[in-house]
Amino acid sequence: AHVVTEACFNCKYTDCVVVCPVECFYEGESMVYINPDECIDCEACVPECPVEAIFHEDNVPEKWQEYTQINADKSQELPVITEKKDPLADC
Ligand code: SF4
Ligand code: F3S
Repeated sequence: AHVVTEACFNCKYTDCVVVCPVECFYEGESMVYINPDECIDCEACVPECPVEAIFHEDNVPEKWQEYTQINADKSQELPVITEKKDPLADC
């Protein structure tokens, strides 16, 4: 599966969510998360993110390793997001 990391925090450009063919992005207050059970590793979202926040789980940078579990947990409890919205002001 693919993982959204720290770079998304306080940004949420949401360019990623509109290209996902299986609609597996879930929206939190400060960032989005991918449900690892739904992601089909198509990689469509990776080049869309302006801050390069999305990585394959095998390539998550060392400092952001904890995001693999965070995506799995958070995606369970948040609403799905499939439409683009304005990024957060703090980005
Ligand atoms: Fe969706 Fe593909 Fe990105 Fe997985 S890799 S989150 S299936 S766009
Ligand atoms: Fe976040 Fe990048 Fe998507 S900033 S919302 S992972 S386009």
